Amino acid sequence: MADPMEAMKKEFENRIIPPSWKDRVWEIEDYRKFHEDTIKDKESIEKWWEKWANEIFWFRKWDRALDDSNPPFYRWFVGGETNLAYLCTDWQIEQGRKNKVAIIWEGEPVKENGEPVEVRKLTYYDLYRESNRIAAMLKDKLGVKKDEILTFYLPMIPELPLFMLGVQRIGAKHSIVFSGFSAQALAVRIMDAGARYVVTADGVYRRGKVLNLKAIVDDAVKICEQEGHKVEKVIVVKRAGNEIPWNDSRDVWFEDLMADIGKNVKVECEKMGSEDFSFILYTSGTTGRPKGAQHSVGGYAVHLYTTMKLIFDIKDDDIFWCTADIGWITGHSYIVYGPLMCGATTMMYEGAPDFPDVSRWAAMIERYGVTIFYTAPTAIRMLMRFPEENYTKYDMSTLRIIHSVGEPINPEAWRWYYRVFGREDVVCSSTWWMTETGGMLTDHFPGLGKIIPLKPGTNGYPIPGVRMEVLDDEGNSVKPGERGYLVISTPWPGMLMTLFKDPNRFIDVYFGKYKSKGWYYYTGDFAMFDEDGYVWVLGRADDILKVAGHRIGTAEIESAMVSHPDVAEAACVGKSDPVKGEIPIIYVVLREGVEPSPDMVNELKKHLRATLGPVVASDAVITFVNTLPKTRSGKIMRRLLRAVAEGKELGDVTTLESEVAVEEAKKAYEMVK
Ligand code: WTA
Repeated sequence: MADPMEAMKKEFENRIIPPSWKDRVWEIEDYRKFHEDTIKDKESIEKWWEKWANEIFWFRKWDRALDDSNPPFYRWFVGGETNLAYLCTDWQIEQGRKNKVAIIWEGEPVKENGEPVEVRKLTYYDLYRESNRIAAMLKDKLGVKKDEILTFYLPMIPELPLFMLGVQRIGAKHSIVFSGFSAQALAVRIMDAGARYVVTADGVYRRGKVLNLKAIVDDAVKICEQEGHKVEKVIVVKRAGNEIPWNDSRDVWFEDLMADIGKNVKVECEKMGSEDFSFILYTSGTTGRPKGAQHSVGGYAVHLYTTMKLIFDIKDDDIFWCTADIGWITGHSYIVYGPLMCGATTMMYEGAPDFPDVSRWAAMIERYGVTIFYTAPTAIRMLMRFPEENYTKYDMSTLRIIHSVGEPINPEAWRWYYRVFGREDVVCSSTWWMTETGGMLTDHFPGLGKIIPLKPGTNGYPIPGVRMEVLDDEGNSVKPGERGYLVISTPWPGMLMTLFKDPNRFIDVYFGKYKSKGWYYYTGDFAMFDEDGYVWVLGRADDILKVAGHRIGTAEIESAMVSHPDVAEAACVGKSDPVKGEIPIIYVVLREGVEPSPDMVNELKKHLRATLGPVVASDAVITFVNTLPKTRSGKIMRRLLRAVAEGKELGDVTTLESEVAVEEAKKAYEMVK
């Protein structure tokens, strides 16, 4: 791939205006002023967000929009009371959306006999009733308490959002673990959250196969037990009807639990403090231990509502489709809570973009008349490899806004997406944000009634109410066109409250880097500004990889590798990849007496799959060396390993202990190239 920075710099002046927006475009200077007015001081920040907070439902309004007396533990809408489930169901019904379709779900088209694909449509009333029933079941049958955390290991089926809403209704919390994670990864997350209950499904369809999720949960529960944590019940939703292992004293079918819960049971919605927490979501950091990002109720809701309006310009007749998995933050925020609290119709689907063939998404856009589409650059780059007729033979003219998220979008992929999906007349942008930010933070803001011009590959402008800066290592602002670290220097409502059970790590990880300068949220991303003030995120600056948009720490991969008895040491680096964005290259030192072989590679891949899950394992490249390049003080020089994999100059090697290790790495890399 071309150097992403150079490729993006070429687009700095390339302002593109979709024809249907030609009369609705900001002069950059005007937008700049408008933006600056929202971040002048604390009062202007509060005023900006309060305007949006006033549009959503509160049981009790807040006393203060922002309490910044104990940074970096900012508190938003202090004294306010609301509830995510109320916002997504009761409030929608109150606004006349009782019979409106809330969720359209399409199953994987597994049937080959010409039967239509499996579709479920749930109205807001369905959501309301079913989530009330689930809330009643959790409370009355399982004794789930307010503040208790439940772990969900569920695939993309409507029961997942229903459970999320059921849990929110009673003030409990969820920790959703992406269903592509392994038993080991799941076990660690169950134990960290202290979950008594795990909700899963028997299986799920993916590319024509049934994955046995329940068997993975059983393994995870076993690991928990060995570590002294008891999972009391595993609740199983029936999806694929596959054979599953069963333990009578612990496992229970969801439908059995619900059988005698009345259709019209009502559970009073807990009035949650704005600063209560609503969920935790584990994400990767630069050490092996996953971090539980803890999100609020009120601030999170206001952030999602605002971004749905400003960035997706959501309207009542939209069909909104975010292709993410709900197991990641993008799905939490923009399949479930964001669209539902705006009363939208949100799509969710089971399966994959390339099964039964690469037309699946285009066909679905036509089938349901999708108007707003949100996906990941890695998927766009995969689709780009196939002839355009696969997509253009479907009518996608309903689309009016198409965005991407998860990693930088290269200008070439942006152009393809804008042309083939967007027929060069949509708002098309790359919205930058993170698990920790709760919601999107950059864009072109069609919801303001006019947009700032598009540019291929940019992230657009920071959202009003938020100040971003690009700093060098010393904390000085770098000039437009120069690379630095992206920081956020004002608090925003969707930001994580803390790391679960680990406030000190929260301070260190996100506010440690520029401590001497003040409270700067460090994103861990490289970025640059252009002269117009647009942000261009270039990729991670730390040891976190984005593999097909999935976030994974090299430290997690390394610790998984060394947990294999034959592995002495391992070092993982990311190598850029034209489709996946990045893939992990793992250099492994085997223990004395163990020989490298193709079987060993397979064995280690299997181990990686078992410890972390298929997402990482399927893309990882494993190669063997006798020693790793280290500094004289014994630190692995990953920078050199990355240079080897990228075929780049090694740079400064004065601290290198032995050149032999680099030569070895080069040879080892040649073997797997
Ligand atoms: C990257 C996903 C460039 C970035 C919502 C960030 C992006 C990390 C973009 C967070 C984008 C996300 N352009 N890079 N539009 N969106 N990233 O927590 O490196 O899975 O720090 O959240 O993804 O990944 P996470």
